Amino acid sequence: MTTSFRCAFACAVALTLAAPLLTLGQTAPAGKPISTDLFGIFFEDINYAADGGLYAELIQNRSFEYAPSDHAGWSPLTAWEYLHEGYAMGSVSVESAAPLHANNPHYAELRVESPFQKGLGLKNAGFDGIPVRAGEKVNFSLWARVKSQEAMPLLVQLRGPKDQVLAETTLSAQKGEWQQYDATLTPSATEDKATLVVLATGKGTIDLDMISLFPSTTFHHHRNGLRPDLAQAIADINPKFVRFPGGCLTHGDGLDNLYDWKQTIGPVEQRVAQRNIWGYHQTGGLGYFEYFQFCEDIGAKPLPVVAAGVSCQNSGGSWRIGGTGQQAIPLSEMDAYVQDVLDLVEWANGPATSPWGAKRAAAGHPAPFNLEYIGIGNEDKITPDFRSRFTLVYNAVHAKYPNLKIVGTVGPSPKGEDYDLGWALANQLNVPLVDEHYYESPKWFLANNQRYDSYDRTKAKVYLGEYASRGNTLYNALAEAAYMTSLERNGDVVQLASYAPLLAKEGHTQWNPDLIYFTNTTVAPTVNYYVQQLFGQNQGNTYHQGVVTLPAGTAADTTLAASCVRDARTGDVILKLVNTSPTAQTFRVELARFKGLTSTATLTVLTGDKEAKNTFTSPQTVLPKKSGYKARKAFAYTAQPYSLVVIRVQGRGVSR
Ligand code: AHR
Repeated sequence: MTTSFRCAFACAVALTLAAPLLTLGQTAPAGKPISTDLFGIFFEDINYAADGGLYAELIQNRSFEYAPSDHAGWSPLTAWEYLHEGYAMGSVSVESAAPLHANNPHYAELRVESPFQKGLGLKNAGFDGIPVRAGEKVNFSLWARVKSQEAMPLLVQLRGPKDQVLAETTLSAQKGEWQQYDATLTPSATEDKATLVVLATGKGTIDLDMISLFPSTTFHHHRNGLRPDLAQAIADINPKFVRFPGGCLTHGDGLDNLYDWKQTIGPVEQRVAQRNIWGYHQTGGLGYFEYFQFCEDIGAKPLPVVAAGVSCQNSGGSWRIGGTGQQAIPLSEMDAYVQDVLDLVEWANGPATSPWGAKRAAAGHPAPFNLEYIGIGNEDKITPDFRSRFTLVYNAVHAKYPNLKIVGTVGPSPKGEDYDLGWALANQLNVPLVDEHYYESPKWFLANNQRYDSYDRTKAKVYLGEYASRGNTLYNALAEAAYMTSLERNGDVVQLASYAPLLAKEGHTQWNPDLIYFTNTTVAPTVNYYVQQLFGQNQGNTYHQGVVTLPAGTAADTTLAASCVRDARTGDVILKLVNTSPTAQTFRVELARFKGLTSTATLTVLTGDKEAKNTFTSPQTVLPKKSGYKARKAFAYTAQPYSLVVIRVQGRGVSR
């Protein structure tokens, strides 16, 4: 703790009485209403964020659908090893003649001529190994079809790196058609790089598919659920909305790669796997039902984004600038595409008796999901093809669902041709919101703090759908924090904002920086994450100008920023002070205007070395530190060099 910090804290404590801060009879200037959904998150399946990440499935390539089109060198047996142990004889192949479901065309066929001492089968290495904990159950399942005359005994094992058995069970697959089998395995030891082994120990022929292993504990205990530690880290941001499934993933690598929400709902074995624009594979196991359910679990509004009838302009076989370019759905097929989008709204909001609402109900959610927002397009090039397709989708959705808040798109940069053309189209069509994206330097974020002050309040509102300051140091995070105070100040025009990208798995990171890095067993939130969390947990619904005064003479100093919002639900007043300079800076605060405020407050400070980062080896280098605070009607607070300070002053008479 620096001297100035200690003094500010001590003085404030000494001079404060636990009394209301507004004298009776005084009237307070009303704050400006701002968006109640301002800070949320953007989830995209990039950097192994879904399969191998948030989606808790532990088996990689569980349905033998990997292909070279997903990634050079991949095949249906990627992540699998053929085992013929104890002199067993036979063979394995991947077949597609009579699959479990047409959407899931490949399966493994094991032909056992002689199991001899042990058996013949397959071993899966998971996503960089399968993490298991001693005594913590895992749920195994598979689909099998026995083609020979006798039932087929199966031995299922979890093994360590030296093939030592950590857990095992046996199953008897019955002769006849495809059937699902379940078992529970309880590992005897903790192992981060376990494997799963399935051995056929009898003679005959058996087909296997959807070989699956889930931790018995998933987030909110859902079947086909999410990894609890990662999901909780996201929930702890307190996001007001979740945008999904992308990003570039939404409009895909060519027309055959547009994200098709309909192929991601229903029984997992009937979903359609797809190559991922980021150079790997999407099982669809984390599909639209799971996204909506996750939103509900964490109290966030879903914001699905659909392609605007065109594919990503930057791709062509792999994600790179200058590929095949934007491709457009033929106009003759647009009716069907538009219908898919309308069906999505019915699936989310329609009664369980409606055709698509019935599918939601069948999946276990008869009540509507209360979809309020939908995005159309992702930073597309604003071409004539885009315009015509966007207009068709927009007009149809708006006509059928006039209350839905539709988000248009204005290119990948804070200015330029697509930005101008996108805005012009949005204003021409009266699109309620547009999605701006920018990845810029900290200097840019500090210099552009006034960007939205001059935006026309009568036009489309803004969703800042993707932004980041190109780094994970404390300085980057503070530049973002300073900018976020400007988003609050302009929360009447900026309705939504989300950092990007959200998740990145070590060893599979295609895009840096990200908000949360993780391995199979650890979660390492960045300093930027804590900024998002502090803003997420301290959102308000009115903005109050003139409560915080920056140090004298610093009006033009872009290194300092501050905001004041009030949360009507609790009555709390929340101050955010950002000092990105190398010296301590004193901010003045005037709270006298607020009625119903106590002097009880909390103080949270995020500070450290300018270049400090949280890493896997040092995940706690910069953490927010929270303490009690006593607020006065007027006080000065000296913020340490390189710090974000959040002071939350408690309102009266609200149960919390
Ligand atoms: O956030 C990563 C990518 O950045 C998104 O997929 C895309 O929208 C943007 O170019």
